[in-house]
Amino acid sequence: MKFFVDTAEVSDIRELHDIGLLDGVTTNPSLIAKSGRDFKEVVQEICALLPGLPVSAEVAATDYDGMMAEGKVLAALADNVVVKLPLTLDGLKACKHMTSEGIRTNVTLCFSANQALLAAKCGATYISPFIGRLDDLNVDGMDLIQDIRMIYDNYDYQTQVLAASIRTPNHVSQAALAGADVATIPPAVLKKLASHMLTDKGLEAFVKDWASTGQSIL
Ligand code: E4P
Repeated sequence: MKFFVDTAEVSDIRELHDIGLLDGVTTNPSLIAKSGRDFKEVVQEICALLPGLPVSAEVAATDYDGMMAEGKVLAALADNVVVKLPLTLDGLKACKHMTSEGIRTNVTLCFSANQALLAAKCGATYISPFIGRLDDLNVDGMDLIQDIRMIYDNYDYQTQVLAASIRTPNHVSQAALAGADVATIPPAVLKKLASHMLTDKGLEAFVKDWASTGQSIL
């Protein structure tokens, strides 16, 4: 399973990339607003930090012409930009045309299997079903990941299932079990994946027992 980090904070991206955990980055207008940074500048900085890895940058326009114009500007920022488009009819049309022009796309704000089917038909590189926002409505977001996986496998669609709106470590493991190709994870949740109470307890005991031997490995 590929891990993308869902943030526009360059320091978090650098830290997680240094550990070796990242296969890409996703941003959205809310994350850009939270960063307080210039959109194009921060996207270029992230792309340079992760050469060759996909970095999703979302259009702000909601009409087809506007999305096409903005998408071309974003795609020209760096080779590894993936243009993020909303799952609307205009967004799907833009997806179809960008795909035919060789621009990679991430179709976002997906909340149903039918929406995911349409995105695949339009050649989306990634589809982003939002797990957490469905869970917020008491709808099991993981069921959607399973449904999309089955539909894409039935018809051999190459669109990658990118589990988004992840809020907990359980979301990550469940998305992996459901066969999502990618999970885009907030930095804090990504770091939590490494921790376990028994790991901490076990390590504490090993450190104490090793000290009691008085030995040194170096
Ligand atoms: C990712 O591409 C999405 O924009 C993001 O995961 C949304 O997460 P949220 O529902 O926590 O805002």
